Amino acid sequence: MAGIYIHIPFCKKACHYCNFHFSTSKKLLPQFINAITKEAEERTLFFNEPVETIYFGGGTPSLLEIIDLNKILLSIRKNYKVSSTAEITLEANPDDISKEKIINWKTLGINRISLGIQSFVEEELVWMNRSHNAQQAIESVQLIQDHFENYSLDLIFGSPLLTRALWVKNIHQALSFQAPHLSCYALTIEEKTVFGNWLAHKKIEPVNSDLQAEQFEILMEEMEANHYLQYEISNFAKQGFESKHNSSYWQGKKYLGLGPSAHSYNGKSRFWNVANNALYISGIESKTNIREEELLTTQQQFNEYILISLRTSKGINENLVRNTWDEKTYQHFQYIFDKWHKIKHLDKKNEHVFLTKQGKLFADGIAADFFL
Ligand SMILES: C[S@@+](CC[C@H](N)C(=O)[O-])C[C@H]1O[C@@H](n2cnc3c(N)ncnc32)[C@H](O)[C@@H]1O
Ligand code: SF4
Repeated sequence: MAGIYIHIPFCKKACHYCNFHFSTSKKLLPQFINAITKEAEERTLFFNEPVETIYFGGGTPSLLEIIDLNKILLSIRKNYKVSSTAEITLEANPDDISKEKIINWKTLGINRISLGIQSFVEEELVWMNRSHNAQQAIESVQLIQDHFENYSLDLIFGSPLLTRALWVKNIHQALSFQAPHLSCYALTIEEKTVFGNWLAHKKIEPVNSDLQAEQFEILMEEMEANHYLQYEISNFAKQGFESKHNSSYWQGKKYLGLGPSAHSYNGKSRFWNVANNALYISGIESKTNIREEELLTTQQQFNEYILISLRTSKGINENLVRNTWDEKTYQHFQYIFDKWHKIKHLDKKNEHVFLTKQGKLFADGIAADFFL
C-alpha cells in the first residue's frame, strides 16, 4: 500500500502564520499543471504497490479549476495502479466552496475534504489574514456535509486573541456539525512569516505555552466526551473516519510527493523537491534534477520511528524496536521509557508504549529524550 501527495503551491492571500510553500500569483499555474503531470509520468518507478491514498495539499488545492484537477488525476490514474477504493482527499478553503464545485469534485472521484476553518471567530480570522469570514466558514461546512460523509475541519488554537471561552465556542461549533474528523494545531510563530516579523519587532507577544497547554487539555476533554478517538496527537476522528493518507505516513509506509516542496519516502530514503515554482517547472521541463535525497542512517530511522509513532494512539511497538535495532538501542529505549513511566507520562499495553494524557502535553520533549 502506498500514497501520493500532490502539492498545489498557490493561495489567494498569504495567511500571517503560514510557512508552507505557496505563491499568491497564479501566473505560472498553466505551466505548473503540465509539470505535475510530467512528474507523475516520470516517477512511475518510485514504487510498485497499489496506490490506496491520494492527497491534494497546499497551498490551496480548492482554487484549481476542475479541468486542471481532472488532468492531474488522469495522469496519476494512467501511470499508477490506483485502487478502486482509494481515499482521495482535497484540502479546501471555505471561500472556494460552492455547490457546483463540490459536485464536480465528487464526479472526479474525490471522496474526502479537509476544510481549513482555523477559527469561527471573526476578529481572529481578520488578524490571521484569512481569505474567508466566520459566516463563510459555517456555510462551507454546511455545504460540504450535504455532499460528503467523510470530511475534516482544521482549527488553530493558542493565539493571543483566542480566550478560553472563544476556544470552547470554536470546538462546540465544530462539534455541532458532528464533523467526522478534526485536526487541531497549536499556533506556531514561524520566522519567515508576517507574525514572525511582528514578533521580531515586538508588535506581538510570543505564544503563551501555558495557555496553549490549557487549550489543548480542553480540546482533549471535549473530544473524549464526544466519543472521538485521538488517534494522533493533533487528529481526532469518529470511528472509521481516521485519515488513511496521514495514517500511512505515521505507519512508515511509502509515499510519493509531486510538486514543488513535496516530500517522498521509499522506505529507505527521504526526498524533497525544490520549494520554488519557477525552478520546479523549468527543472521538470528540462529534465534536470529538482529533488534532493537523504539516505536515513539506522539512528535517524530510530529517531523518526519514535517521533512519529509516539504521537499516535497505537504508540511505539516495543517488539519492533527490539527486533529492528541493536541491543544497546533497545536498552536505551527501556531506560528512557522507565524514566517517563515513573512520572506517569508514558504507559505500556500489549508491548506498545504510548503517551498518557499528561504525557501528551510534553510529546515533543519526550520524543527528543528518546533520540539517539
Ligand atoms: C498549510 S495549510 C493548507 C490548507 C489550506 N490552505 C488552509 O489554509 O487550510 C494546512 C494546515 O496547517 C495548519 N497550519 C499552518 N501553519 C500553521 C502554524 N504556523 N501554526 C499552526 N497551524 C498551522 C493550519 O491549520 C492549516 O489548515
Ligand atoms: S494556511 Fe493555507 S491558505 Fe493560508 S497561506 Fe497557508 S496554505 Fe495558503
